[in-house]
Amino acid sequence: MILNQLEELSAKASDELGKVDNLQELEAWRIRYLGRKSSLTDILRSLANLPLEERRAVGASANLIKQKLEACHEEKKRELEAFIFIPGSADGLDVTLPGQPVDLGHLHLTTQILEEVCEILGGMGFQVAEGPDVEWDYYNFEALNMPVNHPARDMFATLWIDYERDSGTKPMLLRTHTSPVQIRVMENTQPPIRIIAPGRVYRYEATDATHEWMFNQVEGLAVDKNITMADLKGTLLEFARCLFGKDRKCRFRCDYFPFVEPGVDVAIDCFACSGAGCRLCGNSGWIEILGAGMVHPEVLRRVNIDPDTYSGFAFGIGVERIPLLRYGIDDIRLFYANDIRFLSQF
Ligand code: PHE
Repeated sequence: MILNQLEELSAKASDELGKVDNLQELEAWRIRYLGRKSSLTDILRSLANLPLEERRAVGASANLIKQKLEACHEEKKRELEAFIFIPGSADGLDVTLPGQPVDLGHLHLTTQILEEVCEILGGMGFQVAEGPDVEWDYYNFEALNMPVNHPARDMFATLWIDYERDSGTKPMLLRTHTSPVQIRVMENTQPPIRIIAPGRVYRYEATDATHEWMFNQVEGLAVDKNITMADLKGTLLEFARCLFGKDRKCRFRCDYFPFVEPGVDVAIDCFACSGAGCRLCGNSGWIEILGAGMVHPEVLRRVNIDPDTYSGFAFGIGVERIPLLRYGIDDIRLFYANDIRFLSQF
């Protein structure tokens, strides 16, 4: 009899709790079903008057229901408290709803490769040096053996900075390569020198799939007693193997840069076809990856380093070329078009 009554009570309480949708109503519900004057409390109080057998059964059931209703009350309370009402608005802000996922960003492909290159060369003892993007003609050209009107300046389609002609200021430009950092470092440091200079460079160039007006280079420079071409070859071979696989071979061919003598262009055997010839290497089996050479004695002399005592090597790597080759990207313009669909792949 009382057990039935308890069942009904429990069902009714649960049912009503489901309809409660604010804290005031919840408090009224609590008083009604769990309060001092509630029927449940009455039943619990009257247990003492029941015969022993019945007392046990009713007591257990009533306590169970009490615990259940208390638990439900707690849960409902938490739910309602989490529901924040913004004054003046009909709807609340339900902070229990799952949030909008925020996309996680990551480093730009170029930054990743720059870090990789610096890590490899850093491991060989090169320290990072930096120079400005806006550079004097002197550092970009003149100190690198390219005086005004030197024909080799044509190798570098230059973006000049507008300046008052006749104002006495010296001509400025956006650096066309990272080689000016060689001069800046040698002006301030006596050998031994081992630096790398990563950074942006600029060319006055119509853009297409293989040309950008802005890209990145990493310059390398080592100056010391007895530095030879063999040091250059060993350094670059190790570098190429770290980047493109431990079986890579390097090819060094004569090339001309006014600030090195001799100058070389360096190629690796194609990692796609191992030298057999394919689309990636233009059927030649070789892929050119950088320019290098022994620092020209005239360049050393200009920064007060005695070329009879010291010698050095220098190299310049095009950074974007590394992922272009590695991932078979067919258009350099993708790098800086800021299309997230492209960038998020790396
Ligand atoms: N600065 C040259 C370029 O941008 C590359 C280079 C660097 C060549 C160092 C030789 C030595 O083309």
